[in-house]
Amino acid sequence: MKMWAGRFRQPLDPEFERWQRSFPFDRRLIDEELAASRAHARSLASAGVLSPAELDSILPGLDEIRQQAANPEFLQDEEAEDVHHFVEKRLAALIGEAGYKLHSGRSRNEQIATDLRLYVRRSIDNLQRCLGELLEALIARAEKSGVAAMPSYTHLQPAEPVLVGHWLLAYIEMFFRDSGRLADCRKRLNQCPLGSGAVAGTTLPLDRAAMAADLGFDQPTANSLDATSDRDFAIEFVQALSIMAVHLSRLAEEMMLFSAREFGFVRLPEAYSTGSSAMPQKQNADAMELIRGKAARVIGDATSLAATVKGLPLAYNKDLQETQEPVFSAAETMQAVVSIGAGFVSAVEFDYDRMHAAANSGFMNAMAAAHYLVARGVPFRRAHEQIGKAVQWCLEKRCELEEMPLEELRRFAPEADQDFYLHLTLDAVLACHNVEGGTAPVRVRQALSEARERLAALREEMHAHA
Ligand code: ARG
Repeated sequence: MKMWAGRFRQPLDPEFERWQRSFPFDRRLIDEELAASRAHARSLASAGVLSPAELDSILPGLDEIRQQAANPEFLQDEEAEDVHHFVEKRLAALIGEAGYKLHSGRSRNEQIATDLRLYVRRSIDNLQRCLGELLEALIARAEKSGVAAMPSYTHLQPAEPVLVGHWLLAYIEMFFRDSGRLADCRKRLNQCPLGSGAVAGTTLPLDRAAMAADLGFDQPTANSLDATSDRDFAIEFVQALSIMAVHLSRLAEEMMLFSAREFGFVRLPEAYSTGSSAMPQKQNADAMELIRGKAARVIGDATSLAATVKGLPLAYNKDLQETQEPVFSAAETMQAVVSIGAGFVSAVEFDYDRMHAAANSGFMNAMAAAHYLVARGVPFRRAHEQIGKAVQWCLEKRCELEEMPLEELRRFAPEADQDFYLHLTLDAVLACHNVEGGTAPVRVRQALSEARERLAALREEMHAHA
């Protein structure tokens, strides 16, 4: 039975009918739809709209549908307009007329708003688990790398040496921020639209707080117009995912760059690479390229959501049906991306010798050299100039600063002494960045143990939502 044919004299144009259906994609929401329907049914029974006997046939009917829905065949239905219609149809087929009573006092406008919130909440919990694995993989790699050093870059030109662990900690920070954004979004979305009706609130005496509690929401939403047309939670969620995608894309980009022969810092794991059908020697970083590519899709999803909502008058408009697919696409894409990313990070190999050699050459100790002079009272701008000239001399002689004879150096920097060379070793340069958030080994060790604690707290939080 159609949900709304009563006032119509003509059937729908068949092409339009097929085209406006959302069931092909919103059947993903079947579990959410059934959970929300159970909460609504209990509330109808408490309000005396359903008899105890009717409730006793509706609840098992909904359970039966849930069991059958485990089989994808069951979700093939050419007639169901959307997941709400599908459940109503199936329920009526199972239990008869009482099935049609379930729609009393509710509207699909509040149902989709509720289902989508539940879907985003569940996706956030899954993504937090995936992020936990990625963070674990990064922290473990950083711990294992000990005091190994590598170059850092600004403008992609060699800048200063850093610990490999320090480099990985930069990504660890980004992913903790992503996790925080998701947790924040979860808090704000956790309100229950049920009872909002089509637009003005239900006319039945339903206990909204009970329905909210039933579904694990903190409280009912405060305004029915807003609740049925609000998609902030979807926009916020997908925007948070787009930032996360940008972080993974940057990590992927660095893995690709550092695996290029010219860098040679990382060796791609075969399990995450593919070959070329033409060039027999090739091993390509496909996993990373796809992660970089998927970021574009998620950014597009975020843009599409904001654009869909921006011109809508209150409250529900069918345009809102278009907010579903970007949410599904971004959530499913990012679950896979984070999980593949975690696997890659655990499997990738670092060539510490190549990294060390690169960190130990190319004048990456020049800033430390200038600060050596600063410690001897030279104004930094002068010290910069002096070391700059010394670098120029070395470039001509094809040597490093620490290979420059003291007499030569003193022509540019008379304040320099024999101990200048002690300050220029890789270890000395690393150790002197001894500030919170700096790359000195003691600081990196500290940052890593803090990251461990934060990961433990995140896991506890995840546990609370499980
Ligand atoms: N499939 C619809 C959606 O996703 C459900 C709500 C339909 N409401 C309506 N008044 N036509 O938005």
